Amino acid sequence: MLQLQNINVSVCEGAAPSRVILRDINLHVHAGEFAVIVGGNGAGKSTLFNAIGGAIIPTAGDIIIGGENVTKLPQHKRSRYVARVVQDTASGTMSTMTVFENLSFAFMRGKRRKMLPYGTSARLKLFSKKLENIAMGLEKRMHDTVEKLSGGQRQIISLLMATLSPSKILLLDEITASLDPKVSDLTMKIANEMIERESRTTLMVTHNMSHAAGCGNRLLLLKNHHFTRDISGNQKKNITAAELARMVGEI
Ligand SMILES: Nc1ncnc2c1ncn2[C@@H]1O[C@H](COP(=O)(O)OP(=O)(O)OP(=O)(O)O)[C@@H](O)[C@H]1O
Ligand SMILES: [Mg+2]
Repeated sequence: MLQLQNINVSVCEGAAPSRVILRDINLHVHAGEFAVIVGGNGAGKSTLFNAIGGAIIPTAGDIIIGGENVTKLPQHKRSRYVARVVQDTASGTMSTMTVFENLSFAFMRGKRRKMLPYGTSARLKLFSKKLENIAMGLEKRMHDTVEKLSGGQRQIISLLMATLSPSKILLLDEITASLDPKVSDLTMKIANEMIERESRTTLMVTHNMSHAAGCGNRLLLLKNHHFTRDISGNQKKNITAAELARMVGEI
């Protein structure tokens, strides 16, 4: 589904010589896989997402999604391939629009209007069902503007919007980092269930080692500009937050 082939990213900061952020990254993420990426501050995790999402073009290498080479495709043309949710709870949704309007916007994106089989009442039914599945009571907030929701609720709406879009890959970059610990855990649990329910191909960055240990079916450690660990199967299932923290801290 997603192939990263020899991805290199270097950045220029002022007059200083260019600095390597990512070096020879190779990764194959299969359809339905949920890979969690861990690594220290500044390791290059968000930079990697920027490259996959098209915000930056790698210095070298190829990005292939669903068999198509998207390496040089501009960001605004990547929504068919990539949906991204970030840490900032205000950035994924439009605050003065209602939950329904936000979800409708995401749902319509990438669909040809004439071909839409979904009128307002069908969309209401579909979104209500999805929100009921989440069991956060958000189906009762359908016609509230998003600014009235809490940060955690907004992140869940952002995530639902991302899963309603036709994108092939979901990129989650520290989506619970700005939430208090209790809301963060609940939001992560809901996000994990949503991704598993829909078997969404997902890459998720987190600094929360319990979330990293408890979510997904693959674990990648980004260190020294490339992936130094790639853990899946029973080893992933059995890994503990403490082991992971040690792994991230190791030199
Ligand atoms: N456009 C840019 N220009 C200059 N330096 C950049 C640019 N983008 C990223 N960097 C640098 O690349 C390095 C990696 O940054 P990145 O944001 O990818 O790290 P990260 O792993 O996401 O860290 P964190 O866990 O803190 O979010 C940092 O040193 C950062 O300053
Ligand atoms: Mg980051």
